[in-house]
Parts: sequence; C-alpha cells; structure tokens
Amino acid sequence: MSVHSPIEVDHVRVDELLERELAALNARTQRSAEMYKRARESLSGGVASSYQLRDPWPIYLVDGAGPKVWDVDGNEYWDFHNGFGSMVQGHAHPAIVEAVRERVALGTHFAAVTEDAVLVAEELRRRFGLDRWRFVNSGSEATMDAIRIARALTGRDTIMKIFGSYHGHHDGVMVSIGVPYEAIGDRENLASLPYGAGIPDAVVELTVAVPFNDAGAMERRIERLVREGRPPACVIMEAAMMNLGVVLPEPGYLEAVREITQRHGIVLIFDEVKTGLAIAAAGATERFGVTPDMVTLAKTLGGGLPAGAIGGSERVMSVVEDGSVYQVGTYNGNPLAMAAARASLERVLTPAAYHHLDELNDRIVAGCEAVIERHRLPGYAVGIGSKGCVTFSTERIVDYETFKASQDVPVTELAWLWNMNRGIYMTPGREEEWTLSVTHTTEAIDAYVAAFDELAEALTA
Ligand SMILES: Cc1ncc(COP(=O)(O)O)c(C=O)c1O
Repeated sequence: MSVHSPIEVDHVRVDELLERELAALNARTQRSAEMYKRARESLSGGVASSYQLRDPWPIYLVDGAGPKVWDVDGNEYWDFHNGFGSMVQGHAHPAIVEAVRERVALGTHFAAVTEDAVLVAEELRRRFGLDRWRFVNSGSEATMDAIRIARALTGRDTIMKIFGSYHGHHDGVMVSIGVPYEAIGDRENLASLPYGAGIPDAVVELTVAVPFNDAGAMERRIERLVREGRPPACVIMEAAMMNLGVVLPEPGYLEAVREITQRHGIVLIFDEVKTGLAIAAAGATERFGVTPDMVTLAKTLGGGLPAGAIGGSERVMSVVEDGSVYQVGTYNGNPLAMAAARASLERVLTPAAYHHLDELNDRIVAGCEAVIERHRLPGYAVGIGSKGCVTFSTERIVDYETFKASQDVPVTELAWLWNMNRGIYMTPGREEEWTLSVTHTTEAIDAYVAAFDELAEALTA
C-alpha cells in the first residue's frame, strides 16, 4: 500500500464524472452506435463473444498498428487492452506479417504437421523446461485437454482450482468465478457455483475451489477430499492471478503448492494463458522459479492468430503418447498460426524484448504510484513483465475474498471511460489489467500516466 492516510473517494463526485464521461464517449462513438444497430440483427448482442458486450454499445475497431488501434469513428487510441492481453508483439508486427504472408501463399491448412510446429514445440520445450507439447486453438481448449490428461493419468475425477480464477469457457472450469461477496462461503469450504447457465450440477460438483495464496487451506481441503474418497486429479491455477487485476503469489506460496501436490500425487497445472510468453520468456514458470507438471498457453503464443499449447513432463504426456487420451483437433498446429508463433518466438519475443517490457512496466508502475501518492488515492499499482494495473482498494488484494470485499465498481467504470475519452484503450472491467507490447514506447506510458493523473485530479478536486 503506497498511501498511509488515503482520502475517501467522494462517490457523488464519481457519479457526476461517470455521467459526464459516458456522454462524451457516446458522442464520439456514434458510428459504433450505428454499427451496433446493424450488427445485432445478425450477431447475437452485436458481438462475437459475450466478453465484447458493453452498454450502451460496443466500440467497433477497424485496425491496429504497433501500439495503436483505431475505431470506426476514426478515434485513435494507445492500446493497453491488446486483445485481452494477447498482442504483446503489438499490432501488425512486420516479422509476423511477413511470416503469415509467406505462409498464406503456400497453403494454410492440411491437418498434417508442418516443420514450424516442430520448431515452436522445440522452442517452448527449451523455454519452459517441459518435455512434450501439443497444440490447440485457444486457452479454453488448452485447459480442457490438460485437465483430461491429468484425470487420465491419475484415474481421478475431482479437480481443484483457485476461487475466482478464470480458465476458459468449458464446463469444468466455469465454476466459482465472479461470485458475489455474500456467496463466497466459508474459507475452508468455498462454494462450487456455476458461472452462468447451462452447466450441469454434476460437473460443478467435481470442481473444488480454494483461496489463492493460502497453501494451508489448499492442503486441508485436499486432505478432506482424500478422506471423502475423491482426491483431486489436478490443481489448475495461475501462478499470478490475472483476473483480479494482478495478484502476485506471496513468498513461498508456489513452492508450498508444488510440494503439497507432489506429495498427494496431484498434477500441478500452471495456466499460463495470460502469463506465458507475456511476463517473461517462459512466463510465470521462469519468473517464480517453480516448475509445474503441465503448462497451458494461448493468447501471446499466436501473435494474433488463434493458437494454444499444452506442455507437460514426459510422464504426464505419456497418456497422450500411449493413445489412452485422445488429444485431438482439426486445426491443431494450423500452419498459419504456427508460422506466426515461430516468427514471434524467434524474431519478436527475444531477451531484448522482455528487457524493454520490464523497463516500460517499471515506468508505468512508478508513474501510477506517484499519482496515487500525490493525490492520496486509496489504491496501489502492481506490475510484472508486460502486465499490471492500478487496484483501487484500501486493502492489499491477496485473493478473491479480499478483492470482492474492497471492490469499488463505480471508480473502476469511471477509470475505463476516462481512459477511452483520452485515447487510452483499456480492457473493461475491474478484474482486467493493462498489457504492454514490445512496440510501446515511453510516449505511450507517459500518456497513460498523464490520463491517470488527470483522473486523480478530477476525483480529488
Ligand atoms: C488464465 C486464462 N486461461 C484460459 C483462458 C481462456 O482462453 P480463451 O479465451 O483463448 O479460450 C483465459 C482467457 O482469458 C485466461 O485468462
């Protein structure tokens, strides 16, 4: 916490600013309003994914170049959303454009392996220290297949996840996310609740959630599950949570999880869909020095094309190799996606790129911290690699419970509108973070900090 005696945010003022900023954004996005009217006649809700919904209408984009994007009204933004944290390479990176252009003329799909898939697997093996890899097309596919592999290996059905963590949209992991504070339940016995309709109770019951940053609670829950005759096949988790802003692991936590899971014969899966290749060359696995049994990747892997991957130790992946698990998919290892991934790994996400991202992130975190300090805002900035956020909270967030307890929804909504009206394209929702790209510069960072400073000024005026 950077501020010892923070001011209390005046919510009447927040409401006034919300109204003003919403009107301003509506006025500058009239073509998006028209596009929405047309789109919803054929696209459900006018969007391709419910995560793209926004009231009163979504902002429709046209193109992107490097660190910038443009919407259908011609508004220009520095992009800190970066496709839900996928575009660490920046938009239309010349190395990726060249690789895709070359590949597209050579045929884009065979459902047979091309050399690029072998090269990408070799590079992921080198980076993550995991022996065997398979490709999929999204983060959801990666976590779905990883869980199936863990179940096959252990012969167990129950799975364990961290309460509040998102791992994609398949039934088994759409559990205990986005739950209201009152419904979280007893910390030692957190509730298993479906995230949205259409998820069978029988599946929900197989997923048990525990709090982040509490190895003791995890171990006690595992021991109870063992006594009940349903030990977990796996623990699937983000080593640093990326959907409550950014929540870093407390010292010793990941090491303890590694030891507990090993002792109980549980497959430890680090879901690195957001962190992998984005916070270091080998993501959280490298950053925190703890090697899981499996890693799942997507987002940054494809450089803007749909690609995901599953990496595992030889032992874990033996159930794929011996044919007991069907790890399959028509588009797995698609040549176009693999050409982009190869160019990205070989030519874009280099050691120098990670150094650049670290320097920029230090600058944005320090800049935001200085604003918070100067205006005595209740909050703090946190960052790692290309990711970070300002968390508006008087308490330090360590897990979902502390996140929910101190959630200031109106201020978060205001921050998003404020940024959009000042040329900063941010991921909507308090739970999201910024993602920097290798094409971001100090100019982009300083624009972000200046907009935040102006917001702080307006909040405290
Ligand atoms: C940690 C994590 N895992 C899995 C997923 C699912 O990835 P996708 O949306 O590509 O299916 C996401 C998406 O945001 C994620 O953040």
